[in-house]
Amino acid sequence: MNLKLEHPVALVPTMGALHAGHESLIKIAKTEAKSVVVSIFVNPLQFENTNDFSNYPKSIEADTKLAESSGATFVWVPTFDEIYPSEPTIISAGEIGNLFEGVHRFGHFDGVLTVVKRLFDLANPQFAVFGEKDFQQLFLIKEMVKKLELPIKIISAPTIRDSSGLAMSSRNIRLSVSDRESAIGIYRALELANTATTLELARTKLKSAVSTIPNFLPDYAELIDENTFDLATATTTNVRAIVAGWINGVRLIDNMVMSKIGVSK
Ligand code: PAF
Repeated sequence: MNLKLEHPVALVPTMGALHAGHESLIKIAKTEAKSVVVSIFVNPLQFENTNDFSNYPKSIEADTKLAESSGATFVWVPTFDEIYPSEPTIISAGEIGNLFEGVHRFGHFDGVLTVVKRLFDLANPQFAVFGEKDFQQLFLIKEMVKKLELPIKIISAPTIRDSSGLAMSSRNIRLSVSDRESAIGIYRALELANTATTLELARTKLKSAVSTIPNFLPDYAELIDENTFDLATATTTNVRAIVAGWINGVRLIDNMVMSKIGVSK
């Protein structure tokens, strides 16, 4: 990327099929930086499932319009060769990269970190914005930035939900009406867990609500310490519920802070 942009620059990395969630990332980026670059690149390295990769929705024209109307200065659609001109050096996401999403999507986070580092190298931003919906991804990107001492401030953006509570996702357009009703069940399960005042109760409520969502094949439904990704225990301060799984071949993921539990709350 060879552009004269006013500094500071914020990067909003995306894989396209932009929606209200991305719109909010771009707006947040705009509050921090003079120029906002939105990248659109469907990164093959982070897909362990070739169907999921080939079915990933593509809508560059609509994406460009949405990005520009949300405040993007430049919409960057790099080619594969621009991102990977030669065999890429894979960045390992380490042990935490092999938990939860990593168990079910082997190598996924190595692929994410590898592309994010390339996007950072090419766009040279001072800020980068990522959504909390992909909480493990956000955590690992922050860890990478710390470990490699990159001069980039990572900004986390809250999950945007539709009026039913369903977290915005590019994959939602592949849900039928009844799939969508099932998908809302994930949000309801998180909300239910969040009514609990003890860790054990929250865990029980989450797991039992998730197990009754019609057509949902869960990969995991857990309560974790959001600072370490260990399973939450009685001494955990910041407890977060995380859920992911499949509805009719569409992968869905969501999470929520458990506001009534955790020591010193
Ligand atoms: O969250 C995404 O859309 C992707 O994982 C990202 C960060 C753009 C890397 O390809």
